[in-house]
Amino acid sequence: MSTDAITILKDDHKRIKALFQQFEQAGQNATKRKGSLVDRMIEELTVHTYIENECMYPQVRKLVPDLEDDVLESYEEHHVADVLCMELAAMSPDSERFDAKVSVLIENVTHHIDEEEDDWFPKVRKALGRKQLSEIGAEMLELKKKAPRSPAQPSALKKAGDAIIS
Ligand SMILES: [Fe+2]
Ligand SMILES: [Fe+2]
Repeated sequence: MSTDAITILKDDHKRIKALFQQFEQAGQNATKRKGSLVDRMIEELTVHTYIENECMYPQVRKLVPDLEDDVLESYEEHHVADVLCMELAAMSPDSERFDAKVSVLIENVTHHIDEEEDDWFPKVRKALGRKQLSEIGAEMLELKKKAPRSPAQPSALKKAGDAIIS
């Protein structure tokens, strides 16, 4: 398995986008299926934003100072997704607002993923060597093991808090 940081993150993106697509194709009345798809989205997103927030973003900020603004904007986009995930985790799939909230999550996260993949990950790849990217990737794979899997877990809540305070 590759430990290239960008490859790891793009694989996550692929799985997340597949869940988005399944949700969009699930149809009006597939309430139960949509509920379980959203559970999986929340889990994938919680782990993914955790390893980016804790490892990828601080490393990029340190090693590629030119991308500072992109990283800061990305933290804010993660925060918006965190809030939506937290609300969805507490919401029943047959609530009137459920589908609309999921649509907003999908729009926001898709935009964010596109910016990462098209705008600034290529610049990171250019600036960092293969060895550095593989070290960052190995660290992220380690972090995945202890990453929170639901937004209600303390390490996920701390992250949401930090976004407001710091
Ligand atoms: Fe991200
Ligand atoms: Fe990402």
